[in-house]
Amino acid sequence: MALCLNMHAGEQVKSPDGRLVVDFDLAKGGIPTYCATFAGEQIVKPSHMGFILADSTKLDRNFAVTATSRGSEDDTWTPVWGENSTIRNHYNSLTVDMAQPRHGIKMNIEFRVYDDGFAFRYIFPEQTRKYLVIDAEKSQFAMADDNTAWWIPGDYDTQEYEYIKSKISEIPAFANTKFQENASATLLDPLGVQTSLMLKTPSGKYLNIHEAKLIDFPAMHLSVDGPALTFTSALTPGIDGHMATIATPFETPWRVVMTGDKATDILATNIIYNLNDPCALDDTSWIHPTKFMGIWWGMITGANSWAYTDAHDFDLATFDYSKAKPNGRHLANNEDVRRYIDFAAENGMDQLLVEGWNIGWEDWFGKGKDYVFDFQTPYPDFDIKALNDYAHSKGIKLMMHHETSGSPANYERFMDDAYDLMNRYGYDAVKSGYVGNILPAGSHHYDQRMVRHYLDAVKRAADKHIMVDAHEAVRPTGLARTYPNLVGNESAMGQEYQHMSMQHCTILPFTRLKGGPMDFTPGIFEMDLDKTAPGNTTDKKATIANQLGLYMTMYSPLQMAADTPENYAKRMDAFQFIKDVPLDWSISKYIDAEPGEFIVVARKDKNSENWYAGGVNAEEPRNVDLALDFLEPGVKYEATIYADGKKADAITNPHDYKISHRKVTAGDTIKLRMARGGGFAIEFKKL
Ligand code: NOJ
Ligand code: CA
Repeated sequence: MALCLNMHAGEQVKSPDGRLVVDFDLAKGGIPTYCATFAGEQIVKPSHMGFILADSTKLDRNFAVTATSRGSEDDTWTPVWGENSTIRNHYNSLTVDMAQPRHGIKMNIEFRVYDDGFAFRYIFPEQTRKYLVIDAEKSQFAMADDNTAWWIPGDYDTQEYEYIKSKISEIPAFANTKFQENASATLLDPLGVQTSLMLKTPSGKYLNIHEAKLIDFPAMHLSVDGPALTFTSALTPGIDGHMATIATPFETPWRVVMTGDKATDILATNIIYNLNDPCALDDTSWIHPTKFMGIWWGMITGANSWAYTDAHDFDLATFDYSKAKPNGRHLANNEDVRRYIDFAAENGMDQLLVEGWNIGWEDWFGKGKDYVFDFQTPYPDFDIKALNDYAHSKGIKLMMHHETSGSPANYERFMDDAYDLMNRYGYDAVKSGYVGNILPAGSHHYDQRMVRHYLDAVKRAADKHIMVDAHEAVRPTGLARTYPNLVGNESAMGQEYQHMSMQHCTILPFTRLKGGPMDFTPGIFEMDLDKTAPGNTTDKKATIANQLGLYMTMYSPLQMAADTPENYAKRMDAFQFIKDVPLDWSISKYIDAEPGEFIVVARKDKNSENWYAGGVNAEEPRNVDLALDFLEPGVKYEATIYADGKKADAITNPHDYKISHRKVTAGDTIKLRMARGGGFAIEFKKL
């Protein structure tokens, strides 16, 4: 009997533990409709489903159910890297086959209900219509309450925003104020939000709306009907003005609502990965967690340049760099790269990212040019063979950098050659990027064509045993389960924004990280940026202990130590944690958290018996009584505690930290204080 749908013949599917219940029925007029109840509380009110096609065919009504089937699954899989060494995939499912006799179209909806969330997708089986051109998706998420939301605005080209906390009903009021000043924004109109969207109900339950397995389809934003408290899927338009062209048979990405009694349940759920396909690669032995430094922060802060000269507006094809005057700020040069290699190799890094190694950076930005880079020709002061040989002789690798400057066609043109060059010189990881407007004009970063491009780049890289970390690409939706060489993405405001709010890092694990790891670039040790780049007046709003805590709270198999060797050399005792922290875990336990306030997590190293813990904090200084009951009982551990100093404060005293040592057991509690913008990191070495 339907619980939240007031209908006679509905279908119901419950989570394995019975606490999450999803009802489906056709409403009057044959409208596919679902609703959901969690722990006895309605969380999603009756919500409509379907599509509108370009020829005006309405696939959101006039359906008849032709069959229903049920299933369940309970298995455990082993990720190549991750927060846990095994993941349980446990759900009940319902598939409703439907037909729309008038247009001869068949469309099925599959639901999967887990203990920690539910999902649905549309399946177009083999049918007479071979192509469907979609103009709108009409999946609603009608919230039962005016929940608190942590959101960033719906934008077809970037997620690089700070989060806003407001009630759902308040979101539309931001439309004419907040974001208009950003001239390059391609915002949903009227203002909507992006996923993953973090929500909290008035009764204290946590929800999160996202999508999983985004393949061959545009990314989904959510439009907001404030008074009705209803979100509706809003797809990213393609250059032809349509949202998507699909060939039947076709399965859409999953639309997912995560559920939790506690905030930490949302951090812990693996539902997004579970909704993706198992690993598609036969051999994954070449994929490995990677800790790296970079020829990078100097450019981001403004001390150095990607470009070799200060010349502009020349023809790249005929320009003779060997005769050009160097600008003296080009950091990707033989001498500095060697110096960085030495430091990285001596300090346990696996790789050194080098940006600005290839010609074209003089005019890379904002020119709307298709051909900017060939990803193969080094600047005259970067000896690609000698530097790779030198790095290898020291036991590390260089990391490749491909900035596409928003020109996917140009990247596709050179991609195989560029990957071959990597194979030739011994690179096995590439950081790619998509800065600028996507060409041709009118395309968007999150449209169907670009979603195909990003995955194609990952698959072609896998063929050549190359790991990918793509910046400015579409936010991840769990595809790293299937293609674990996708070891990172940016797809959010990262530390390259040198001054973010203190809340930001306490929200990202609830939102951006649900789809996959982020190349956030933690580990800034000199918060007074003027010291790194004279004239840079921004100060980072974080303490040193906060920067260490990020290695624990922002899970990624790819972690940067983003600051410069000079800045680390001043604080080698704190840098020790960055050297020691593992990037791959057998167990992760989220201990306590609240979005926008703080996160505390403990994790067990996959390759040893050691545990690690860490926390990050936003603006309210906070005491943490860390009960060590996650440790193995009866065993002694040597704890090395990296904490905020007594006077630490992200704004007034960011460099105050204290390192202490203690012998502890599972019965102990460590008392910590996280400063404003602070944090902590602890290593527990089994004795
Ligand atoms: C933006 C990326 O996020 C940043 O890390 C990179 O250095 C620049 N693009 C240049 O590619
Ligand atoms: Ca970026």
